[in-house]
Amino acid sequence: MESMKKILVTGAKGQIGSELVPLLRKKYGHENVIATDIKDEEEGDAPYEILDVRDGKKLAGVVDRYGIDTIFHMAAILSATGEKNPQLAWDVNVGGLYNVLEVGREKSLFRIFIPSSIAAFGPETPKVNTPQDTVLKPRTMYGITKVIGERLGEYYFWKYNLDVRGVRYPGIISSKTLPGGGTTDYAVEIFYEALRKKRYTSFLKPQTRLPMMYMPDCLKATLMLMEAPLENLKHHTDFNVAGMSFSVEELALEIKKRIPEFEIDYEPDYRQAIADSWPESIDDSAARQEWGWSPDYDLPSMVDDMLEKLRIKLGL
Ligand code: NAD
Ligand code: SER
Repeated sequence: MESMKKILVTGAKGQIGSELVPLLRKKYGHENVIATDIKDEEEGDAPYEILDVRDGKKLAGVVDRYGIDTIFHMAAILSATGEKNPQLAWDVNVGGLYNVLEVGREKSLFRIFIPSSIAAFGPETPKVNTPQDTVLKPRTMYGITKVIGERLGEYYFWKYNLDVRGVRYPGIISSKTLPGGGTTDYAVEIFYEALRKKRYTSFLKPQTRLPMMYMPDCLKATLMLMEAPLENLKHHTDFNVAGMSFSVEELALEIKKRIPEFEIDYEPDYRQAIADSWPESIDDSAARQEWGWSPDYDLPSMVDDMLEKLRIKLGL
């Protein structure tokens, strides 16, 4: 059976890429996973290339040089940064994605992963248990680029037989690398501040409830989908995946149960409008049916693990 042999990861230094790369290297071989990013951060003897995904020619050169057959395309500008600089978000998220799909088409790559997001939804989408196939009218440039990514990936699948896959990640919570400028970043920042200062000022209101997922489940979903038999898939680039859903005050309460001195206050900013346009919870039955998805972490088990990992990381 054909499988992923030489893997390229774009945006490898980001929140997800920095944990995906070691996992892929463990599974597929150290030298078979080529990490790339715009960041100039060599990785010892591990294959690493500085690569701006807007440079399609350089991307094609790297794919040729290493004999790449699979790409995990993680480079992007996230929602909050994207609202500050929509033109950059368009260039990187649409231009970069187009280059990745084109290199996939030209070189007949085996498989490509392009993540979408809960940001693909908008205020007209049903907010609770958001269906798989529903209204996609995002109000952010980031969300618009994600819908374009879903549709373009699907187009390459039908038009060129390119095996493009993707999930709509919820907000990802993790302890290794800080998130890169999203609206769900509060759910990571809060842990650092709770441990260091015993207080946190949230940029979202207390009742704001969003779909979230712990990093081990994010990596599990990514690999499960990429390793699923193609014939089982009815969807390709736009799978809803759920982990947990909670409001800011529910997360704060869960932290307070473990750090009783912890206090939170609220100063909502421009990110509140972004969060208000997104769902509260997600129906992921298509992912469950088509490739057997189920998450391992809920809110209490995620909070326990985050605090344990961050206490070690911060030397507390
Ligand atoms: P991140 O912001 O942490 O990392 C993105 C990486 O891309 C960074 O290392 C950055 O240096 C790199 N990058 C930026 N511009 C680039 C360019 N022009 N060329 C090459 N690299 C560039 O993002 P992440 O959280 O790791 O997200 C990875 C993917 O998952 C993105 O597509 C994102 O939209 C999606 N996603 C993430 C979340 C989340 O909560 N983290 C949720 C939904 C979807
Ligand atoms: N976590 C991401 C963001 O907030 C969702 O795609 O931008």
